[in-house]
Formats: sequence, structure tokens, C-alpha cells
Amino acid sequence: MRAAGRALVLISALNALGAAGACPPAPRLGDPLRGLSADQLDRFRQGQEVFEREFTPATGLGPLFNSIACGECHENPVTGGAGDEVETHATIVRADGICDQLEARGGPVFQLHVTPALQAALGIDHEPVPAEATRAARTTPDLFGLGLLDAVPDREILARADPDDRDHDGVSGRPNYFVDGRLGRFGRKAFVPALAEFNHGAFAAEMGITSPAQPSEESIGGKPLPPGVDPVPEPELSQEDMDRVDDFVRFLAPPAPLALDRQGELGRRVFAEIRCGACHVPSLTTGDSPVAALRYRTVEAYTDLLLHAMGPERADICLGQAAPDEFRTEPLMGLRFMPAFLHDGKAKTIDEAIQLHGGEAAGAVRRYQRLTPARREALLRFLKSL
Ligand code: HEC
Ligand code: HEC
Repeated sequence: MRAAGRALVLISALNALGAAGACPPAPRLGDPLRGLSADQLDRFRQGQEVFEREFTPATGLGPLFNSIACGECHENPVTGGAGDEVETHATIVRADGICDQLEARGGPVFQLHVTPALQAALGIDHEPVPAEATRAARTTPDLFGLGLLDAVPDREILARADPDDRDHDGVSGRPNYFVDGRLGRFGRKAFVPALAEFNHGAFAAEMGITSPAQPSEESIGGKPLPPGVDPVPEPELSQEDMDRVDDFVRFLAPPAPLALDRQGELGRRVFAEIRCGACHVPSLTTGDSPVAALRYRTVEAYTDLLLHAMGPERADICLGQAAPDEFRTEPLMGLRFMPAFLHDGKAKTIDEAIQLHGGEAAGAVRRYQRLTPARREALLRFLKSL
């Protein structure tokens, strides 16, 4: 009895030690970051409800829109993920080289759907794109871990910029800047500086929903709304609901990479050797943040958040200071959940996505093509763990 009792005490002491020493399991996909306060978790959950809410014309949708809910596009394999929606953006490079984002004519996002009331009034089923504009197709990316990317200090991004390629490695990397001069980092052209602005702006651009910060509807290709097509008074959504959606996106945990086997470990080394990491920088570190779970953290995002020229074949629109052929290094975190690759979804496999890199990435592609089949397989295995 007594011996058995002692053994039990010993076992439970060992269990307690084990529990204290082990790492808590990584968050599952779609879960919030670890270490949020009860209040932050509450805001995350409320935000998820608004993110998934399906709007109708009676609750503010339209008159122009791309879809009826954030979660209708950002949905796979869980809310906050990628989606199969492809939208249309359009801009014009003016003769003086300045990028005209066509704001006065309803751009740069041209909505693909209109409400029945607008269709009845104007007889259109999407927002017209000016004939002389350049169009771009944009697939829906996932939003996991973006709160961490938002918390990376500007100086960490700017430190990697090398616009004139002074180190002669063929890779330059340029920052994009918003109209007011702030450093951009969100969207495929890194034009939007802060996550909150992107989240708030998406209500207007994707769903035609006005808010206290953006209280007027967009024009229809530059023309005012015909009377009677926008029954809900502005603002159609409260600032509080907008802020909760921002909390939801900000607190979404980054996807946990899969554990690597020997082949995957080899692939990680190949990734470094052929210098994919010149742009897909394996990790960034956040700075100070009012949110403890975002403060001084490492995020394995595999991006430098800078623009790179990817070759004339991949060029589409200008945006801010981004030239038509320049794109932000797409983060590779969550790569294994993507249904298609590159800004327009042109690549159906990771191998194709790599082969379609041109411009500044031409050297890395050449090194990739020269890999032995075994090393190439190892690299792909590593990439599929992200
Ligand atoms: C019609 C589909 C659609 C809807 C609805 C939609 N999005 Fe998106 N989202 C996209 C696409 C497409 C992009 C890529 C845009 C780009 O690269 O310029 C994007 C990009 C983003 C980004 C930037 C991601 C990055 O990597 O920089 C954020 C943040 C975002 N969306 C949040 C939201 C929020 C919040 C809502 C709801 C208010 C929303 N989206 C609704 C399609 C959608
Ligand atoms: C010069 C910078 C640069 C280098 C070097 C580079 N990439 Fe990229 N990568 C980018 C940019 C920019 C994009 C986004 C392009 C787009 O959206 O059209 C991208 C996109 C990708 C994508 C698609 C991600 C997605 O979700 O759509 C994959 C996969 C990828 N890169 C892997 C690699 C690998 C592997 C290497 C090394 C062989 C590499 N890249 C080298 C800049 C680079």
C-alpha cells in the first residue's frame, strides 16, 4: 500500500513536471494567437461573427460588391483562409509615369456584382472598367498571422531594401509607399500601410458597406448613384463592428509548420543554398505592441514585405509606386493550404509557381532548375510543410 502510494505520488510529480516542461500545442488553423487576454479572446470571437456575417441589400450590401461576406472569400480550409474568388483591379500608368488608380472612376477595385436595384436602374451587372485601363486578376489570399506582419517595425523592412542592388546579387527589393508617404506592406503590391486600414477598406471595396470612417458609397464608374438604389442610411456598419473584424484578423495565429523529416530538412538547406531567402526571408521580428501576444515575436513568414520586379511576362497594373511588374514577396507561411499560386492564380503547383518567377528571381530559378531531382523533391517537401 505505502509503496504503491509513494509510486503514485512520484508518477503524478513526474506528470506535473512533464506538463510544465512541454510546449503547449501549437494553435490549430483558424485559432487565435496564444497568450491573448480574456478580453482580446472575446473580441476575436465577436469579430469572427461579423467576418462571417452575410450582408444583403437590406443590411447595407452594395450597390456594388464582389461578395456578401469577408468569410465568403477568405474561407478555406477555415474562416480566415484563402478562397477561389478572383477579382478585377485596374489602373493606368499615365504618360508622366504616375500611377492613376482611377479613384474618380470607381477604381482600383472594379466590383463584379451589383444589387438587383442597381441592375434595374442602370441595366449593368458589374462596374464598368475604363477601356484604356490595364486590368489585373487577384486571387483571394489567406489572412493567418497578418497581425504579426503588421507589428514588424518599418526599419526592419527598410533595412533589407536595396533598390540599386548595391550588393550586386541581382536582387534589389524596393519599398512601396502609400499616398501620404507611409511605408506600405499589405496587398499583393504592398500598397496599404496598416492592417486596420486594409480590413476597414475591404468593407467598402468588397461589399459596398459604409462605416463612420468611410461614410459614402463609391461611385458607379465615376457617376453618382441613381436615386433609390441604396436604401440603408450611412453608415451601414458601426465602428465597433469594424474594429471587431480588425481584432479577428489581427489575432489569427500564423499556421504552424509541419515537423520536418530528413528530406524536409535537406529541402530547408536547399532553399537557403539557392537563395530563395533573398526575398522569402525566413523570419521577421515584431517590435513593441499594445498586444502582448504580438510584442517582440518571431514570425516565420518567408517574406521581406518588399517589392521585386518579377519580369515583363508577369506584369499587370501599377499601384502607388509599384510598377506593373513589381510584386510584394508573397509570404510562404500557410503555403500548403493555397489552392493556386501567384497573384492571379496562374500557377497550379508549387513547381510551376517557382518556374514562373522571372526578373530579379531569374538567378534563383536557374539554380532551382539545375538541382538534382532528389534535391528538388526535398525542396518541394520543405515548401509543403509551410
Ligand atoms: C470578393 C472576395 C473578397 C472579400 C469579400 C474580402 N476579401 Fe480580403 N482579399 C481579397 C483579395 C482578392 C485580396 C488580395 C488583394 C490584393 O492583393 O490587392 C484580399 C486581401 C486581403 C487582405 C490583405 C492580405 C495580405 O496578404 O496583404 C486583408 C487583410 C483582407 N483581404 C481582409 C478582408 C476583410 C477584413 C474582409 C471583409 C471586410 C475581406 N477581406 C473581404 C478578396 C476578398
Ligand atoms: C527576387 C525575389 C524572389 C526570389 C529570389 C524568390 N521569390 Fe518566390 N516570390 C517572389 C514574389 C514577388 C512572389 C509573388 C509573385 C506573384 O504574386 O506573382 C513570389 C511567390 C512565390 C510563391 C507563390 C506563393 C503564393 O502563395 O502564391 C512560391 C511558392 C515561391 N515564391 C517560392 C520561391 C522559391 C522556392 C524560391 C527559390 C527558388 C523563390 N520563391 C525565390 C519573390 C521571390
